[in-house]
Amino acid sequence: MPDAVREPPADPIAAVTHPDPWPYYRQLRETRPLYFDAGLQLWVASSQAAISEALHHRALTVRPPGEAVPAALQGTPAGQVFARLVRMTDGDFHAAHKPAVVQSAQRWTLSDVADASKAAAADLLPRLGPNELMSTLPVQVMARLLRVPDRQLETTCRQVQAFVQGIAPGAPETAVALASEAAGALMAQGQAEGLDAVMAANRMALMQQSLDATAGLLGHTVLMLRQHPVLADAADRSLAAMRAFVSEVERQQAPIQNTRRFAAQALQLAGQPIGKGQGVLLLLASGNRDPALNPRPDHFDVQRSDRRSLGFGAGAHACPGVAVAIETVAAGVMWTRAGGRFDACFGRLAGFRPLGNARIPVFDN
Ligand code: HEM
Repeated sequence: MPDAVREPPADPIAAVTHPDPWPYYRQLRETRPLYFDAGLQLWVASSQAAISEALHHRALTVRPPGEAVPAALQGTPAGQVFARLVRMTDGDFHAAHKPAVVQSAQRWTLSDVADASKAAAADLLPRLGPNELMSTLPVQVMARLLRVPDRQLETTCRQVQAFVQGIAPGAPETAVALASEAAGALMAQGQAEGLDAVMAANRMALMQQSLDATAGLLGHTVLMLRQHPVLADAADRSLAAMRAFVSEVERQQAPIQNTRRFAAQALQLAGQPIGKGQGVLLLLASGNRDPALNPRPDHFDVQRSDRRSLGFGAGAHACPGVAVAIETVAAGVMWTRAGGRFDACFGRLAGFRPLGNARIPVFDN
């Protein structure tokens, strides 16, 4: 660990799993806020100005031009679902369907979410280790909110996990086949409720989108509660206080460290010419530590009056699940801590999952 800490990450993708990526992000921001990384063959944006401009740029899209669905998924049931997700589409299709997805993701009260999170924690904590718990709890919370019957919760969570694994870049054919099978079953759940194909796909996406991102938020909340015991005691006093703690964790640690955009046509970004088809990696985590976005950005300050975060995206693709994600983590963590089960569950930090965009802690059992 000490050697790895001393050596800066090799590139912005390696930064996601580096023990301390923050000085590297700072150096990028200060010396080359938008540059072309020849090794990654991607433009890299690290300042809040370049990232925000990219997130609001109409010609920067979430998929490469001419490849709406990744080649490995084309012609499969998983690919058919992928093509209908607001997360993966732009233009008229996205504009037509995003409002209904936002409405659907924001139909619950905070107390609905807190109840679902406590119920999921009570079910899962006694039988799962910390890493499996982090991945399963957010999906089960969303499944409960979507009124999946108790007897189907376990299978539904497994199917969502299979879908996520199968649509990941480079997934083997067997994983794609399992994702297609899972997509069929999850689509049938939505269609049985009378949803059309687009809304059924985006209903399952609410469970899918909550998986890695909320697992990361939960894991970092565990780490920061340990690192700041006095603030943790204050957060334990009320759900509102824990919510503020989790919001600051999200800003400061940014579980989704980066996202990508592709130039649908030649364009200018932060004064630089970007060629049609070129990709841009947006370092959301670095943007959150830019003093132009937040004063004293490295400081963990639960009381921040004007907290700003790019960690949930911005612009047309802004995350509609912010409140659900924060409440899921705040209520689940509070319930676990109040019962004295917290320290017994999460062991030592052993590293981070080998992912290129989400920074998700791995704990010893
Ligand atoms: C219950 C939990 C969650 C749900 C239901 C959810 C849902 C979604 C959906 C449907 C989108 C796509 C919106 C669109 O493309 O128009 C999205 C985007 C996004 N979400 Fe979430 N999300 C959740 C948790 C989180 C968490 C915990 C984070 C990070 C801390 C996060 C970060 C993002 C980001 C960065 C985007 C934008 C990606 C981009 O523009 O490239 N989400 N989310």
